[in-house]
Amino acid sequence: MLGRLNHVAIAVPDLAVATATYRDVLGARVSQAQALPEHGVTVVFVELGNTKVELLEALGENSPIAGFLEKNPAGGMHHICYEVEDITVARDRLAASGARILGDGEPKIGAHGKPVLFLHPKDFHGTLVELEQV
Ligand code: CO
Repeated sequence: MLGRLNHVAIAVPDLAVATATYRDVLGARVSQAQALPEHGVTVVFVELGNTKVELLEALGENSPIAGFLEKNPAGGMHHICYEVEDITVARDRLAASGARILGDGEPKIGAHGKPVLFLHPKDFHGTLVELEQV
């Protein structure tokens, strides 16, 4: 069911500082910052040869990463995103196995314009898992 690793997301308290770390200290190719108000984050993509890292900064009042940053004020790994061919098939298979799908269980359009779902971290060994249909 799982395809490639699409990205690893790191929540950060200061996106400009984190972007400078990846660009200047680690020598990585980084995108311009993109505000995604419908997702409550501003994101910078770190382009790697085989995958991406997404740096996420909270945007707006009800950012989904606000609670995480309260618990992890220095930032930290927030979620990992795997590609699937058919997100509805994947969702139904996971639900049948007892895994909890976050939200209303319906795929939403994610930061890359593709359908995504999030899976409960307690069902996946303490890691928030995002599935993206590619
Ligand atoms: Co993501």
